[in-house]
Amino acid sequence: MKIFDRSQMREPDDGLAAERNFPRKLARCELPPTSLHGREAPRTLETGGDAPHSLTQIIGRSPAMQRIYRIIERVAPTNATVLISGRTGTGKEIVARSIHRNSTRALRPFVDINCSALPEQLIESELFGYEKGAFTGATQAKKGLLETAHSGTIFLDEVQALKSDMQAKLLRVLQERVIRQVGGRENKEIDVRVVAATNQDLVEAMRRGEFREDLYYRLNVVNIRLPELRERREDIPLLIDHFLKLHAEPNRQETRHFSNEAMRLLLSSEWPGNVRELENAVEHALAIGAGPTLRIPDLPPHINGFVGEIEMWEFAGGPRSLREVERRHILRVLEETGGNHAHAAQVLGIDRRTLYRKLNKYNS
Ligand SMILES: Nc1ncnc2c1ncn2[C@@H]1O[C@H](COP(=O)(O)OP(=O)(O)OP(=O)(O)O)[C@@H](O)[C@H]1O
Ligand SMILES: [Mg+2]
Repeated sequence: MKIFDRSQMREPDDGLAAERNFPRKLARCELPPTSLHGREAPRTLETGGDAPHSLTQIIGRSPAMQRIYRIIERVAPTNATVLISGRTGTGKEIVARSIHRNSTRALRPFVDINCSALPEQLIESELFGYEKGAFTGATQAKKGLLETAHSGTIFLDEVQALKSDMQAKLLRVLQERVIRQVGGRENKEIDVRVVAATNQDLVEAMRRGEFREDLYYRLNVVNIRLPELRERREDIPLLIDHFLKLHAEPNRQETRHFSNEAMRLLLSSEWPGNVRELENAVEHALAIGAGPTLRIPDLPPHINGFVGEIEMWEFAGGPRSLREVERRHILRVLEETGGNHAHAAQVLGIDRRTLYRKLNKYNS
């Protein structure tokens, strides 16, 4: 459960201002910083309704993104259920948050549930809550996430992962707007706005009989399909600029930028991991690069291509010391081997002790 620091939450105008200035603000939607959400950890819940103004914004001026802004603009103030689809890293979560923050529920909870991260046997009690004694270990009653989201928005991420019995129970919630706790006898009315996301083709899942048709139509009242990054390459420079600022080291004075060659490579890459992959590449370059200009060798190996990279460095970055070349090569091999020291030492043709000695030397 991630709850924002209450001391930062005193911004009563936050949601209302977001609504008043909506069309202008939308392209720069103010969202909670993702770094606070523990992006890599399995997310379960986040009450971001009254979250602070943040660094994270939806970036992009391409026609495809402008279309998305227009849909968000129209749909956010309504209570309509929204299904966001798109490949991994295309920004589904950031869009879900933006819908919430630009709705009249902005100051109410935003509860984020990753349906694929919750174990199957826990999902019902997590979503619906339970009464004391409902099962072994239920020593006291617990409120479910749907109830926590009451008067706010519930974000059902990776909704395709729900098994068929949970799909049926969710359908009931959407139809009747009531929940019943596990072991409970009474129905409780709830008022939640549902936003769901999927990185899979739900129509295909429906054809295979894995996703209920009735639930699909309940969720898919408004559909937002997020384009892949390679379909909107014109946004890449803007995103790079954004991430360079977002991830800049706080105590570093100069602003850093990519060399022309690195920029060309970034613009022409395929980006199967979409915006998240681009963000990681920028963070990687900021961490690895030494000077104000970030160069091709500073990018992750799967982007700059492992083969021939040594030659590229020499020419792109000017003369470099043998120590620097060795340091980078070792880091690269460690990355290639997923941080496995034994394997890296084998690839490098040195023993493990020598590898540790070298790593210590670079760290000193
Ligand atoms: N248009 C955008 N502008 C700025 N940042 C973005 C944009 N799209 C995505 N991001 C950033 O990229 C990262 C991935 O975005 P997000 O988590 O929303 O993707 P996702 O579609 O939910 O991915 P997944 O399917 O893997 O869960 C986040 O750090 C997010 O802040
Ligand atoms: Mg996501």
